[in-house]
Amino acid sequence: MNPVRVALLGCGTVGADVVRLLNEQAADLTARIGAPLQLVGIAVRRPARDRGDLPVDPALFTTDALDLVKRDDVDIVVEVVGGIEPARTWLVEALHRGKSVVTANKALLAEDGPTLHQAAVDGRADLYYEASVAGAIPLLRPLRESLHGDRITRVTGIVNGTTNFILSSMDATGAGFSEALDEATALGYAEADPTADVEGFDAAAKAAILASLAFHTRIRAADVYREGITEVSAADVASAKAMGCTIKLLCLAERSGDAVSVRVHPAMIPRTHPLASVSDAFNAVFVEAEAAGQLMFYGRGAGGAPTASAVLGDIVAVARNRLAGVRAASESAYADLRVRPIGEA
Ligand code: HSE
Repeated sequence: MNPVRVALLGCGTVGADVVRLLNEQAADLTARIGAPLQLVGIAVRRPARDRGDLPVDPALFTTDALDLVKRDDVDIVVEVVGGIEPARTWLVEALHRGKSVVTANKALLAEDGPTLHQAAVDGRADLYYEASVAGAIPLLRPLRESLHGDRITRVTGIVNGTTNFILSSMDATGAGFSEALDEATALGYAEADPTADVEGFDAAAKAAILASLAFHTRIRAADVYREGITEVSAADVASAKAMGCTIKLLCLAERSGDAVSVRVHPAMIPRTHPLASVSDAFNAVFVEAEAAGQLMFYGRGAGGAPTASAVLGDIVAVARNRLAGVRAASESAYADLRVRPIGEA
């Protein structure tokens, strides 16, 4: 039984958990796929870094990611580095060479998804990215497959765990934004530079990906109206509470007629709404579709193991496709929808 050969680009928190899961679940994955997965290379910036008890042969490390994706003995490229470049160059190269790509790179998909999708079509290759939005929550596959026979009208979500932790803490304790941010930083939820989270850039990238899949069009992060949570005060939270509401950073994508509006901003929602009970660093996405009605997806949207779970699910899917000699249908952007500016009637 020939192995399906995997190259990993990046070995930080998520990459290390991908390596661990590949190792721990090896026998089950082989049974599920019908062939073993073999890790044949890991591209990192610092090969000599101490990685503790990570079960990996040090000889697999390289600093040359581009060379790794070009190798003939690589079938699947898994990218967990993030950022636009050089990730775009690596993934386009891999797809053009017919290698399946699994990526968690929301920034790249939201900035230049069409280039990746076109490269996948040109190379007749698979492009899967479940881990790019809402970590472990199976969400993109339902949007791109299960709901394909339906017409989605609205997607409303809490897709940033850091800001949800901060707002939940402000709601529970009456703390101000800075105090709650300090707590999130001390507990390891917020990054040293929390700008991408608290200013809504992270949620806007995820909103663009969700809207593109839900409405079969191409929405970029730049199309998303964005406001962060830095201006939300303890007084705002107290007023919302007095009205039976809580404040959440929502991403909202709505279709009406030939237009889509996509926005990220803090919003007051009634405590009776299902999204109001999503606390701490959890994510949840509420999908409304004409035939299916209301659906809610909930779970851990960040962290090494939850995100690695989504990456592994994609690896299994693309490995099975390779063995069957097929690829997933391309996500054609066949609905040519206008982006409705905020405020337009
Ligand atoms: N910073 C992100 C969050 C990580 O807080 O949700 C997952 O994309």
